Amino acid sequence: MNLKKVNMTYWQKWTKNGLWRFLRKKGEGLDQESRIWAKKNIKADNFLDCGCGAGVDYENLKDNVKEYIGIDKTPKMIELCNENFTGGKWIEGDIENIPFGNDVFDVVYCRAVLEHLPDYKKAIDEMKRVAKNKVIILLFNKLGRRKKVKLDDKTYNNTYDKRIVKYLGENTEVINLETYNILIWQKG
Ligand SMILES: C[S@@+](CC[C@H](N)C(=O)[O-])C[C@H]1O[C@@H](n2cnc3c(N)ncnc32)[C@H](O)[C@@H]1O
Repeated sequence: MNLKKVNMTYWQKWTKNGLWRFLRKKGEGLDQESRIWAKKNIKADNFLDCGCGAGVDYENLKDNVKEYIGIDKTPKMIELCNENFTGGKWIEGDIENIPFGNDVFDVVYCRAVLEHLPDYKKAIDEMKRVAKNKVIILLFNKLGRRKKVKLDDKTYNNTYDKRIVKYLGENTEVINLETYNILIWQKG
């Protein structure tokens, strides 16, 4: 079975069934503590949102960022972002193969995406490659015991331990919120 392919079908289906709405509901939308943290702490000239989904972080951060680009592997998400937002640039793309050159973005950002990938390494390598200054990763799973749980046969829900911090490398700061862990890697 091609798990990644199934995974994408999963997101596409969710879109139809309301991922657009789910990511805006109370507790997951603009009131979510990680989004509040982001609004308060992130400022950038150019910003890449990897796995932008329904563009909730665009709504959240558009006044903090001069040029906002979102990529997502689910075509429906990109279609909906293009239909719904006049600002921002929305591109179909894979976090594991980011369609940009090296050292382009002030901030490369990724919220609630790595947990759904079979592994985080390729995505992290890619985000670091395209970042000029910082990579900011928001994980809904706490940095706990390494445990790989399949939510169903269509998506992953990885719980990462501190190895992800080590993998990011030196110059990584960890911020523990109540529900989210935030990892900030600074390019040397
Ligand atoms: C839980 S949603 C999070 C959306 C958004 N970051 C947010 O926090 O509102 C996960 C998103 O990751 C996207 N995604 C999953 N695998 C991806 C990949 N390999 N490359 C890019 N996007 C991916 C899905 O299509 C989905 O939109």
